Amino acid sequence: MKLLVIGSGGREHALVWKLAQSPKLTKLYAAPGSPAIAEHAQCENISVSDLDGLTEFAKREAIDLVIVGPENPLCEGLADQLRAEGIAVFGPSKAAAMLETSKAFAKDFYARHNVPTARYGIFTDAAEAKAFLDTFEPPYVLKADGLAAGKGVVIPETRAEAEAEIDEFLSGKFGDASKTLVIEEFMRGEEVSIFALSDGKSVKFCGAAQDHKRVGEGDTGLNTGGMGAYSPAPVATPDIIDQAMKTIIEPVAHGLSSEDAPFQGVLFAGLMVTEDGPKTVEFNIRFGDPECQVLMMRIADDLLPYLEACANGTLADMPEISWKAEPAITVVMAADGYPGSYEKGSVIKGVDAANAMDGVVVFEAGTQRNAAGERTANGGRVLNVTATGESLHYAADRAYAAINAIDWPEGFCRRDIAWRALKQN
Ligand code: AMP
Ligand code: GLY
Repeated sequence: MKLLVIGSGGREHALVWKLAQSPKLTKLYAAPGSPAIAEHAQCENISVSDLDGLTEFAKREAIDLVIVGPENPLCEGLADQLRAEGIAVFGPSKAAAMLETSKAFAKDFYARHNVPTARYGIFTDAAEAKAFLDTFEPPYVLKADGLAAGKGVVIPETRAEAEAEIDEFLSGKFGDASKTLVIEEFMRGEEVSIFALSDGKSVKFCGAAQDHKRVGEGDTGLNTGGMGAYSPAPVATPDIIDQAMKTIIEPVAHGLSSEDAPFQGVLFAGLMVTEDGPKTVEFNIRFGDPECQVLMMRIADDLLPYLEACANGTLADMPEISWKAEPAITVVMAADGYPGSYEKGSVIKGVDAANAMDGVVVFEAGTQRNAAGERTANGGRVLNVTATGESLHYAADRAYAAINAIDWPEGFCRRDIAWRALKQN
């Protein structure tokens, strides 16, 4: 099969790394890809926002399956455009992607389909939003309706801060994305991410992971796209996974089908495991980054037939996904200053030595090559140092040993990835 993977980050590096192992693969393309992705795929310099260019390329090369990594092109309708040309796609339509495009849409959708989630209200008027705060105890949860690169949620501790944030959101703190505001109840519990493949008719569990969104150790400091992740997540016991599949993920998939927006791709459920069982924090409509990196290390099966089955509507014919026994961890190395402003171009050494270590794969989220062929930093999150091991402790030791082999003075990482799970055993 001829495949085209859309995207250029660590998630897409992990996807091409996994797909390159498939016996069914005949040719692998990536757009735009990256120097690291180019080790497995032929990279085409077409931007993820150039929907026409991507569609033209897929048609011209008679691509058998397009796999879309990031949310933006899906939210803009890339999958619809490709399907209109008869090209199979792993990734949802614009209508199904609304689950991530609009938090207001998502909350009303959960309500229509009885999916457990936090009580909420949707506002465009500041006075009404402030009055709604009366119905909650602090802390308050305020969310921009639209896409805000993972930054559109604030959790003020006091009423005064919440009211100030309401004014800021509605006056465009996140541009148009925050002109509509969702206010919801604060849920207590432990967070977990559950992934499920969907072909629009049935769903299949595709792993559980936990990530660390805050930049600082002990889960402190600013929110980021994710500083590390691990899988499996001890909080996702078989019973919790079963409850989440039956009460949240299946109703979401069936609800989308019943609203003429069948979901073909991966559902990424961000859940809070509360005293009353798992509840929905949010849904994303693509693999998590960096959660995908640990899932790809753990899936024992060939991934390609599963992605193909999602695109073709034959997922029910596939067996459950089988997993390697070994847990996996990924630690993000970011450029100094991230998630604020950071420099590009610093030289990174030692990645080949790290890659040569047992059980270690370094996925590259944001690297370039300089004239001398050396790796250079080309983004905020730059490397995903990923390792498996007999236990999570062992995997973490390997990942940090690999990080110690990497010589990049202008980068940093959190030294406590997986602390919650490591503390338990
Ligand atoms: P989201 O972008 O909706 O995933 O929110 C970002 C983060 O804010 C989540 O990962 C949670 O840590 C936190 N969060 C969001 N909604 C709630 C809620 N209702 N209760 C508690 N924490 C929340
Ligand atoms: N790591 C969280 C996300 O991909 O949204």
